[in-house]
Amino acid sequence: MCGIVGYVGEKEAQKVLIDCLSKLEYRGYDSAGVALFEKDGIEVIKATGRLQVLADEIAKRTDLTATCGIGHTRWATHGAPSDVNSHPHSSERITLVHNGIIENYLKLKALLTEAGYSFQSETDTEVLVKLLDYNYDGDPLCTILKTLSQVRGSYGLAIMFQDYPDRIYSVRKESPLIVGYGEGENFLASDIPALLKYTRDYSILEEGEIAEITKEKIQFYNEFGNPIKKERLVADWDVEAAEKCGYAHFMLKEIHEQPKAMLQTISSRIEDGLPKLRLESMTTDYLRSLRRIHIVACGTAMHAGMVGKTAIEKLCRVPVEVDIASEFRYRDPIIEKDELVIIISQSGETLDTLAALKLAKEKGAHTLAIVNVVGSSIARAADDVIYTYAGPEIAVASTKAYSVQLAVLYVFALRLALARGTKSEEEIRADVAELLRLPDLLEKVLESSDRIKYLASLFMNCDDLFYLGRGFDYALSLEGSLKLKEISYIHSEAYAAGELKHGTISLIVDGTPVIALATQDDVFEKTISNIKEVKSRGARVILFTKEGVSVPQDVADYIVTLPKYAELFMPMLTAVPLQLFAYYMAVLRGCDVDKPRNLAKSVTVE
Ligand code: M6R
Repeated sequence: MCGIVGYVGEKEAQKVLIDCLSKLEYRGYDSAGVALFEKDGIEVIKATGRLQVLADEIAKRTDLTATCGIGHTRWATHGAPSDVNSHPHSSERITLVHNGIIENYLKLKALLTEAGYSFQSETDTEVLVKLLDYNYDGDPLCTILKTLSQVRGSYGLAIMFQDYPDRIYSVRKESPLIVGYGEGENFLASDIPALLKYTRDYSILEEGEIAEITKEKIQFYNEFGNPIKKERLVADWDVEAAEKCGYAHFMLKEIHEQPKAMLQTISSRIEDGLPKLRLESMTTDYLRSLRRIHIVACGTAMHAGMVGKTAIEKLCRVPVEVDIASEFRYRDPIIEKDELVIIISQSGETLDTLAALKLAKEKGAHTLAIVNVVGSSIARAADDVIYTYAGPEIAVASTKAYSVQLAVLYVFALRLALARGTKSEEEIRADVAELLRLPDLLEKVLESSDRIKYLASLFMNCDDLFYLGRGFDYALSLEGSLKLKEISYIHSEAYAAGELKHGTISLIVDGTPVIALATQDDVFEKTISNIKEVKSRGARVILFTKEGVSVPQDVADYIVTLPKYAELFMPMLTAVPLQLFAYYMAVLRGCDVDKPRNLAKSVTVE
């Protein structure tokens, strides 16, 4: 969480920093701040609240002349959101911004207090800057190395030393950082979108590496302080991808980008009408040998895994276990050598997911990552990676990334079914042809946005809402419910439709809103019976189903009919109106859709 930027060049540093931070605000928006090398030394300007508060503050300052500085947008961990806890934090000679958590900060704080240091904030970061100051011997590199050897935890840091006004130092452990190369200027950021307006050329800072950034040059050092050379990469995302392009919110834009994202993701993995993983290790023999698969992820990505489990088990008859990454890593999971562990992550930086991946590797599993961000930590750590081609997802609520994760899991399931012979080549070809219809069908579904908006207007004032479904529809209910909670702050629960009467049905009273999903033929009648159970207790029901099924009268108050499509792939269609419903509910309630309270896009703390 937290976004970090740095700039050294000839432009007005504060303008570049605010501009870059505006692309990273999704990483945290409790407060923001910058530190600038001004004529009289380092000046820190910071403010609680959204970046705009800081931008307004800075706009009033006509005296700023710095061409070198660092910036930060905060997701609070240690210490409440407040001016004093905002970054940057300073000692007399050093100023820094930090993304991560210093775990042994209390111990270090006690030592430093004894050494005469005093602390203004409640943060772990202030301890770090004071420790750097304590160790400072005039050589920034040695000071950083010595300090980090005393620190336990995770960090992405941008550091300014008062004695070196022409440069920024940067180092990372677990928290991501990239450096960007310009002409007579160089950059630092937590993520690529921050830099796209200025440069596409970048390098990824690896664990423990240090970058010394001046306007002419970026010099890298390894964890022992020896100079190293790094590979230069070119970002293929365009500036537009990181802009709203006329949409009211990034979330709405990203929902509408789904047909294109699906087309790119699916078509890159289809050849001659058959699924192709394009991974050397995933040979037919290997796929045949698989006895069990684990899927590990967090949040929406984990929900994608639940759909993936249903698809893989249905098509391939291989048992699949889905785990929440933060649970997986601490429950000493049973993983046999050579089992396949699929790790799903949009950002590729989620700390728990990354740790789960490392644990799976330690246990001898083969790891396959399904990731959106190219070159991210998870993508680099996994044995194999399948990239989803969704482009940058900026809204905190994941939409298009979820859909493309589903698409990859379906392609994987089809390939596995082909390898294991649980489906004939002819059947797989028919499924692939059906899959390729998806982008057009999604366009059709998006045309019904106004109807979903209307339904949201009828339900916007509710306090609780239930989602029901069976099988694929249950897995999807979980995601629909998360989306609603996350951005509209309405309490909601997702239930396997048959499970409701084992307790939760007592919550259904006159007028309780229920969203029921019934898109699966094999459990259609059962689901309809479950809907009748809630209807007869007064629920107000919106039913999402598909063309061509006959819905008994009075089973629902409102029906949303999705285009006729293979029931196997229905989750990829049904997800869209659920996303739109959550979106419009949040908009109508006046919520900050792209930046819901207390959340951040990239969760790089446990
Ligand atoms: O970047 P990741 O896919 O690893 O993120 C995992 C979750 O934090 C993420 O899906 C989260 O649940 C979304 N904000 C939900 O919309």
